[in-house]
Amino acid sequence: MTRVDLTGKVAVVTGSGRGLGRAYATALAAAGAAVVVNDIDAAAADRVVETIIGSGGRAVSVVASVGPTETADALTQTAIDEFGRLDVMVTNAGILRDRVLWKMSDADFDAVIDVHLRGTFTCARAAAVRMREQNTGGRLILVSSPAGQRGNFGQTNYAAAKAGIVAMARTWAMELAKAGITVNAVVPVAATEMTRTIPAFAPLIEASEKAGTPLPDWVRRDEGLGTVDDVASLIVFLASDAAESVTGQAIGIGGDRLALWAHPQEKAVAFADGGWTPDAIAHSWHTGVGAEPESYGIPAPAAP
Ligand SMILES: NC(=O)c1ccc[n+]([C@@H]2O[C@H](COP(=O)([O-])OP(=O)(O)OC[C@H]3O[C@@H](n4cnc5c(N)ncnc54)[C@H](O)[C@@H]3O)[C@@H](O)[C@H]2O)c1
Repeated sequence: MTRVDLTGKVAVVTGSGRGLGRAYATALAAAGAAVVVNDIDAAAADRVVETIIGSGGRAVSVVASVGPTETADALTQTAIDEFGRLDVMVTNAGILRDRVLWKMSDADFDAVIDVHLRGTFTCARAAAVRMREQNTGGRLILVSSPAGQRGNFGQTNYAAAKAGIVAMARTWAMELAKAGITVNAVVPVAATEMTRTIPAFAPLIEASEKAGTPLPDWVRRDEGLGTVDDVASLIVFLASDAAESVTGQAIGIGGDRLALWAHPQEKAVAFADGGWTPDAIAHSWHTGVGAEPESYGIPAPAAP
């Protein structure tokens, strides 16, 4: 097997002070890339930079909140100023503000949309501008979530943002193909501070930490929940030349599981000459196109 090598490449990873982002930054650096580490937590970002440099890698931090165009510009400019170019943009930064719809405030909604959806848009746009100028291709690695693919209880804001991110990946894959820039959305699952706030996962993570043992095999395989390092392998692959033909995809990874998500498409179709009346739809729905409705939501983990 050829070793994936990122020597000479320059990557930005947003929200890489801890959790999955930290794993992505250190894995990209270990594979040879120079990395711009971004976070709102300065101490966390600096620790990641120190770790990378301590292991012989190259890294610099930019402490700023993603969302605004100014942050996106600062991230790409730092890549150019410090390392001379930009090859990979990983839009990982994220927050949760979970509430059921009838309790979700405007502030909860806007905060999540701003970091995830707008942050992905502004950072990807700034990167696309640079990469098109360089004219040597590039990689936009976006971060979605099972909640964006399936919907999830209490996650109006987050599910909307993460679904939107996959839609942007498909759109940008078309727009940037000619420039040799691939765009994919990763659908990760890993034990982090964020997943610890999800009631279904919290007991599993706590039990394994308490016992000092890895997550059980059924959790790694059936639930696809593992460590942040499990997910980092996919980011390094997508950043590499080995993935130059992979674009417009939503790719799941977690624990022992690697998966390709299907894209939405029409599943059942029926025709009525001259168009459908409400009565005609009511008459045929349950035996026609609505005979096998789609499922939705993320099933709670259950031991075999
Ligand atoms: N952990 C999972 O299982 C899982 C599943 C699906 C999707 N994700 C996504 O993966 C990404 C990382 O998740 P995680 O579990 O590592 O979360 P985390 O909370 O452990 O880490 C998120 C990091 O982003 C930083 N951050 C938050 N807001 C920021 C902002 N405005 N600007 C810059 N940095 C900011 C935080 O300080 C933190 O270091 C998120 O986009 C999340 O939605 C995670």
